[in-house]
Amino acid sequence: MKFRILFSVLLLLPVAGLAAEDQRWFTTEQVARGEKLFLEHCTACHGRNAEATPNWKQTDANGNYPPPPLDGTAHAWHHDLEILRRTIRQGGKPLGGQMPAFEDKLDAAAIDAVIAFFQSKWPDEIYQRWAGRFGTSELPSLTDIAVAANEPTTRLLRQRIGADVRLDDVAETDIDDVYQVKVGPRYIYLLGEGRYALTGDLVDLENGVNLTERARRADALAGIAEFADKDLVVFPAQGERKATLDVFTDTSCPYCQKLHEEIGQLQQAGITVRYLPYPRGGSRGPGYATLRSVWCADDRAGAMTDAKQQLLDDLPPGDCAAAAIVDRGYTVGNRVGVTGTPALFLDSGEKIEGYRPHAELIPYVLR
Ligand code: HEC
Repeated sequence: MKFRILFSVLLLLPVAGLAAEDQRWFTTEQVARGEKLFLEHCTACHGRNAEATPNWKQTDANGNYPPPPLDGTAHAWHHDLEILRRTIRQGGKPLGGQMPAFEDKLDAAAIDAVIAFFQSKWPDEIYQRWAGRFGTSELPSLTDIAVAANEPTTRLLRQRIGADVRLDDVAETDIDDVYQVKVGPRYIYLLGEGRYALTGDLVDLENGVNLTERARRADALAGIAEFADKDLVVFPAQGERKATLDVFTDTSCPYCQKLHEEIGQLQQAGITVRYLPYPRGGSRGPGYATLRSVWCADDRAGAMTDAKQQLLDDLPPGDCAAAAIVDRGYTVGNRVGVTGTPALFLDSGEKIEGYRPHAELIPYVLR
């Protein structure tokens, strides 16, 4: 592992300019100046002590991420100094985010000072891990490589799949010089120091594990876990619950209607069906308004059944607070790779696309 070897050499040698155990790259003057600037420019979003927003992985109704904590509890320490500076200079727009750019307000020294301020909040353990990873500017930075390689890749994927892909995270794999990058709901692999990208699944033949599918399933489970039962329309298993099926649905979709006709058989077989809203075509889609009405009904399960039978007259208006769950469902669905309805997710996170007759579905789900 090229980078790992470089890092371990680094830890053994007293490299000039690298912070020693209890030292950091910045001075107390920089922290003091940074604190004033932070209060003026950043506190409104990132909190007085860079602690906001604790729930930073949860997107809002429009699918935007909130400002993450910068105090070492979130992701900021995964970025080297150059990336942190660039984020503050350019804001989040280049990567599809919301953070404003500060290049007109803060010069390079001021930006370093605010970084010094929030890094002064990092516990030693986090700071040491960061310094171990990015300690000297002579090392190529993993994030730099990935971002450089990803800007064209992101554009390409955007053209190909026509979706608003978001550049996410970079992770090491067990293979030398191969990095896994999540781009929207997909994974790509970068090799050759970021020059080449592979699109496809990475399979560990020795252990018989599809590593990419494993990552996708974990994402799906994390996305679905953002919804509690009370946010959803739940048709509980009769008797003992043997499995749960999470179904992204749209009341206007014929195969969703067909699946719903068989919901009784699924319940009798011990399967709890939880519906998540996924308006095909988003807020301009044919089912959007009806889904909002269903989510606003006192009896959501009854309203769902009516709507699936196209009995729309008695549905309430879709203007209550819970209607925002429909937008969240769409956002999360897109993030976990839903492209059409119905999209079914098993307890393992495995996705089944489209309708299956219950006689086929039940044994598959319970296997
Ligand atoms: C209007 C709200 C807002 C203000 C003001 C703001 N930020 Fe942000 N910041 C965000 C959001 C939202 C994100 C998440 C990424 C995105 O959407 O662009 C973010 C992300 C970041 C990140 C990346 C963190 C990570 O884990 O990847 C850093 C660093 C950062 N902000 C620093 C600052 C600093 C320093 C200031 C003040 C100079 C500041 N921000 C002011 C909203 C804000």
